[in-house]
Amino acid sequence: MIGRIYKYILDYIRSKDFLTQKIWKLKIEKKVLPITYDLTSLVLKKSLDLYKKKQKKVFNNYLDMGCGQLAILGQYKKKIDPKTNVTSADIYHDFLENAQLNAEANNLKIEFIQTDMFKNIKDKYDLITFNPPYVPLSYKKKDIEYDKISFAGSEGTDAISFFLKSAKNYLNKDGLIFLGVNLFYIPKKVLFEIIDLYGFKKNEIIKKFPNKSIVVVISDNQ
Ligand SMILES: C[S@@+](CC[C@H](N)C(=O)[O-])C[C@H]1O[C@@H](n2cnc3c(N)ncnc32)[C@H](O)[C@@H]1O
Repeated sequence: MIGRIYKYILDYIRSKDFLTQKIWKLKIEKKVLPITYDLTSLVLKKSLDLYKKKQKKVFNNYLDMGCGQLAILGQYKKKIDPKTNVTSADIYHDFLENAQLNAEANNLKIEFIQTDMFKNIKDKYDLITFNPPYVPLSYKKKDIEYDKISFAGSEGTDAISFFLKSAKNYLNKDGLIFLGVNLFYIPKKVLFEIIDLYGFKKNEIIKKFPNKSIVVVISDNQ
């Protein structure tokens, strides 16, 4: 019961455009779905800020895999680092079309690619972010449109594995991946096992208390 009330309040807050615009400092021109970001997006936003301010790391080429209906992370990165070349990719054409409209409304130049994971990606990047679908299918109570936003197989890990299997081929030397996951759905142990399985080194974990999502900063283990 408490969980349901919490989710209701959270969804209400996240559907309010004036709050979204305040947090992300982006104008919302049009939406496909009412909710435009989640708890993991917020930790990814914090990670982009941290690497800009504290680590002073410059990412020339940045790919946001699974950018969603607003390409909210790509737009945000372009806003705080106009010199970064930003590519935002998603499997759904409707999301990319809507995201492009929003980026134009914010005067932000972003490349958009429709792709099933890395299928149509040709370049290499200094930074790749991914806020994957990680909700196990057992949580799915009815058919929904755009179900790849949330659901990823019986354990919730299919998209993470699919992504990590190829991601190294699209990273520049010393490139980083910010992988965001909500530990409410995927136990940390399971997540770390997958990261190890595909030969990545865990550099850092970024949190945003009391948010249950984390961002694991990973790189090629070679
Ligand atoms: C949890 S949402 C994240 C949206 C946005 N990046 C954010 O942080 O708020 C996951 C996104 O991944 C996309 N996605 C799922 N499977 C994909 C795939 N195989 N290839 C590309 N994008 C995918 C979904 O369409 C969705 O937009």
